[in-house]
Amino acid sequence: MATLVEKSLKQRVRGFVQVENLSVSFRSKGQYVHVLDSVNFKVEPGEFICLLGPSGCGKSTILNVIAGFIQSSSGFVFVDKRHVDSPGADRGFVFQQYSLLPWKTTFQNVEFGLKIRGVPKAERVELVDYYLNRVGLSKHRHSYPNQLSGGMQQRASIVRALVNSPSVLLMDEPFAALDAQTRHMMQQLLLTIWSDLKTTVIFVTHDIEEALFLSDKIFVMGVNPGRIKEKIDVPLERPRHADSILLPEFTSLNRQVFELIREETLKSMEMN
Ligand SMILES: Nc1ncnc2c1ncn2[C@@H]1O[C@H](COP(=O)(O)OP(=O)(O)OP(=O)(O)O)[C@@H](O)[C@H]1O
Ligand SMILES: [Mg+2]
Repeated sequence: MATLVEKSLKQRVRGFVQVENLSVSFRSKGQYVHVLDSVNFKVEPGEFICLLGPSGCGKSTILNVIAGFIQSSSGFVFVDKRHVDSPGADRGFVFQQYSLLPWKTTFQNVEFGLKIRGVPKAERVELVDYYLNRVGLSKHRHSYPNQLSGGMQQRASIVRALVNSPSVLLMDEPFAALDAQTRHMMQQLLLTIWSDLKTTVIFVTHDIEEALFLSDKIFVMGVNPGRIKEKIDVPLERPRHADSILLPEFTSLNRQVFELIREETLKSMEMN
């Protein structure tokens, strides 16, 4: 029986993301708003990337194009060399808002994607139980979302995405609504799971410390129109611990990123 879980954990040498000359415009009140301008980046399989930038710079738009929820105006996204033009099970998404189906239990929420894909019941149970146990939710498998705390709901949302063995996990400010303590616990849990699974992660946040704590690289975005302003390596040793934020390298990167974001935030305020 362990083979199924092992199989799901092993197929992770995937998750190569290429974003090429991506531009997106939205039509709003009869006018085109140019939101993203020629965004280019690559994410290697198993890398953890954070997108950081002022509000409105297009972070969620990038994630939504990679997820296949919205179409680009020009340019391309490839995941494992396949052109993305619609949603697919190879890309898991975790939203900021709690997004579990309220009428389904934790187990049923996590099982849902597998059921839709026709995975047999016994396999579904094995996989869902494994992942719920992994994030400490076994005892809550029969609880409904309104019986769970915010942190538990986000753990279930992460597991709901991971159970489908995505090549890429797209996370849009998943911990923004949590209190500082729970948030830090969730960051550590995510790193532990990621270091086992080696799924590529593209994680959106406003929080510089969160980005530094989690990622291999930070893509700092600029506004009007949204673009990648700078790509910053985060060469902090792994595994990272609560104390990592006290390291001098952490502090100096924090200052560097803070200055970049500050410039862009001021620019965006002047333009509004
Ligand atoms: N469907 C849409 N129609 C029109 N404009 C949109 C649409 N979606 C996003 N926008 C605009 O595109 C810009 C980028 O939005 P996006 O949500 O990607 O920004 P963001 O960086 O995720 O911001 P935040 O940090 O506040 O979440 C914003 O100016 C937003 O108003
Ligand atoms: Mg957003």
